[in-house]
Amino acid sequence: MQYFHANNKLTAEQKLKLLVEFGTRTSGEIRLDKLLDIIAQQITAILDVGRCTIYLKDVEKNELWSKIAQGRGLEHTEIRVPLDGNNAVSIVARTGEVINLPNAYEDPRFSMDVDMVTDFRTHTMLAVPLKNNSGKVLGVFQVANKADGTPFEKNDEGILTLLATLAGSSIEIAKLYQDVHVAQLETIYRLAITAEYRDQQDTRAHLKNISIISYLLARALGMGTKDSELIKNASPLHDIGKVALADHILLKPGKLTPEEFEIMKSHTVYGGRILEGAHSKVLKIAHKMSLYHHEKWNGKGYPNGLKGEEIPLEARIITVADVFDALCQFRVYKQAWKTEDAYEYILSESGISFDPRIVAAFKKIYPSIRKLYAHISVNKKTPVSGAAETQAAFESTDSSAHDATFRSMIENDKE
Ligand SMILES: [Fe+2]
Ligand SMILES: [Fe+2]
Repeated sequence: MQYFHANNKLTAEQKLKLLVEFGTRTSGEIRLDKLLDIIAQQITAILDVGRCTIYLKDVEKNELWSKIAQGRGLEHTEIRVPLDGNNAVSIVARTGEVINLPNAYEDPRFSMDVDMVTDFRTHTMLAVPLKNNSGKVLGVFQVANKADGTPFEKNDEGILTLLATLAGSSIEIAKLYQDVHVAQLETIYRLAITAEYRDQQDTRAHLKNISIISYLLARALGMGTKDSELIKNASPLHDIGKVALADHILLKPGKLTPEEFEIMKSHTVYGGRILEGAHSKVLKIAHKMSLYHHEKWNGKGYPNGLKGEEIPLEARIITVADVFDALCQFRVYKQAWKTEDAYEYILSESGISFDPRIVAAFKKIYPSIRKLYAHISVNKKTPVSGAAETQAAFESTDSSAHDATFRSMIENDKE
């Protein structure tokens, strides 16, 4: 692509072309990280500079942060500077004025901190405010070192200010979108914790692990990142129906009677009812997961005894992730299985409890899973070596309905 460098005199036509190009590339991108990346790339090319850094305000922490920075030494580095500091970027964010330093190291307003950690030497620097439509400062666009070595001119100030104005509303929309997305995820996650909180001490670890495994499985099955993300984000809600179970069943220390076990199974139906008719994609998936995560490939699961591909794919995925992680966790009635043994169990259940296609995907991602479990602190007691010892451990007391389901599932399959 042909860029028009700011140090050249631009014709009206060239200016227009440049702005259209910038506008086209930045509009329509709602993922904040991606958007900031595109903007920084464009500015680096348009102004022909060594580095472009986009700082956004973090009002809560009273800081400016930048994740995306182009140019030598700064890729994927998060920089944070105090909003009330005396360096140029903080001043621009506070006052909304433009700061142009022809000799950065000789100006007391320039902080060398970032240069020092990134092996970069700033010679010239220009910083302009990033404002929204109503003139509120959202952050700062900063560029350094023009390729031809000359200081930034009035023309550069004008162009950078214009680009900041053009990008302002896109950035604001992307930020709002991100806030809503984060709020949605947080709500889902906290709801899921509510459901699991009563009967499991290691809820967080369990929910985190199954999200990761579900995501990896979806990817290995050939799903795109967006669909895989949805599966990942929906997975913590699989046991939401447990909120409807009475304490005397969910928290019963001993073995459940057959009648109690029937009631316990109903957590799938309750989960289905809670999430029925959901409109968002993520909750629609969560609905299928919560209703069908105890169905089995051979049709011997519950609540509906669905068989094979009658079971929605999302539910077949969460089932494998859920069982694998439950095996690896310590429970009152059982030791934590060794990762390897849990893996062998999943393989052995291919075509019985689990969809063979998903077990094959699990096999594919197992190296990543093994790494994951080597690093996370699961609530482990001494791992036991095999199913026989665990079977013995099953004979001891039980503290959770979900685990009772899980235990019965393994026991039935061993028949
Ligand atoms: Fe369950
Ligand atoms: Fe679970």
